[in-house]
Amino acid sequence: MQTEVIRIMRHGGPEVMEMSVQDVPEPGEGEVTIEQKAIGLNFIDIYFRTGLYRHPLPHGLGFEAAGKVVAVGPGVTHVKAGDRVAYAQSPLGAYAGVRTMPAWQVVKLPRGVDFESAAAMMLKGLTVQYLFRQTYRLQGGETILFHAAAGGVGLIACQWARALGVRLIGTVSGPEKAELARRHGAWEVIDYSREDVAARVLELTDGRKVPVVYDGVGKSTWLTSLDCLQPRGLMVSFGNASGPVDGVNLGILAAKGSLYVTRPTISDYTPTQEKLAAAAKDLFSLVGKGSIRMEIGQRFALRDVGRAHEALASRQTIGATVLLPD
Ligand SMILES: NC(=O)c1ccc[n+]([C@@H]2O[C@H](COP(=O)([O-])OP(=O)(O)OC[C@H]3O[C@@H](n4cnc5c(N)ncnc54)[C@H](OP(=O)(O)O)[C@@H]3O)[C@@H](O)[C@H]2O)c1
Repeated sequence: MQTEVIRIMRHGGPEVMEMSVQDVPEPGEGEVTIEQKAIGLNFIDIYFRTGLYRHPLPHGLGFEAAGKVVAVGPGVTHVKAGDRVAYAQSPLGAYAGVRTMPAWQVVKLPRGVDFESAAAMMLKGLTVQYLFRQTYRLQGGETILFHAAAGGVGLIACQWARALGVRLIGTVSGPEKAELARRHGAWEVIDYSREDVAARVLELTDGRKVPVVYDGVGKSTWLTSLDCLQPRGLMVSFGNASGPVDGVNLGILAAKGSLYVTRPTISDYTPTQEKLAAAAKDLFSLVGKGSIRMEIGQRFALRDVGRAHEALASRQTIGATVLLPD
């Protein structure tokens, strides 16, 4: 069997992504072959394309997709041919029509979750799962700050916070994104392209500030995020949409109130099939109850992946984006 695949030979702009036709390997021991119906676009795909995150070249791109199992290798028992499945954290190479990959990373989709929603929710939804339920376990009643609240991860975070009874203050650029975040459950929204975020957080919390900031924006929000934290609060720096945070003098954590910082990745929170299944069950349960609905703001043909990357990198997307193979 052959399939279309997107690969890069070198790092660079969207133009380095090339489509080619490749053989699909037969599934070996512990592997599964999936005919993919939708692929999730994530900011991390941009980091690998530009070389901010490194992997030996040439390589494929993408971590997240949903589709139908067409074959399983020896030793695979939890899925079979014909099953509807999705995954959040595969080896690089989700940008493909058909692919063979480790079966333990694949979960069965509940009835009622369509392929596009699944491709949009796995990596982003499991990220919110670990951020809210593991990194800093929210109990309900807290007020928190979450940056880029109208993005793919952000709109899931707004809905998850509402379901937990947490007041999420979201930051966004522009009134349209503010309205979208509010509609998805953000308690308050700050337009960080024109407002003073730290002053607004102080005002909204009656001077108390917040116990945790979830920051996927990185470089441009780092200092502001620290200023929004209560003494001994936790800064969760989980992404670099505006560039990586570097050159940090640890003394700043003392100066701003004995703060804690973590820089988590999803792979360390879903290292085994059991942990992945438990996190996915948590996500699917909220989706099943209707507490979380996927907002797919953009759809692109897989062959137009360059345009999709441009839109995501230039802040033109809202919610999640999926790529559709031919
Ligand atoms: N560590 C992990 O395990 C993990 C897992 C998944 C995602 N992430 C991170 O979570 C973040 C969100 O991911 P996503 O895929 O859902 O992306 P996204 O939020 O849909 O897109 C990124 C958003 O960041 C905001 N942004 C602020 N400054 C920006 C800049 N200079 N350039 C581009 N965007 C900027 C934009 O929203 P505004 O226009 O509203 O500012 C933009 O829409 C990313 O940093 C990603 O790497 C981390």
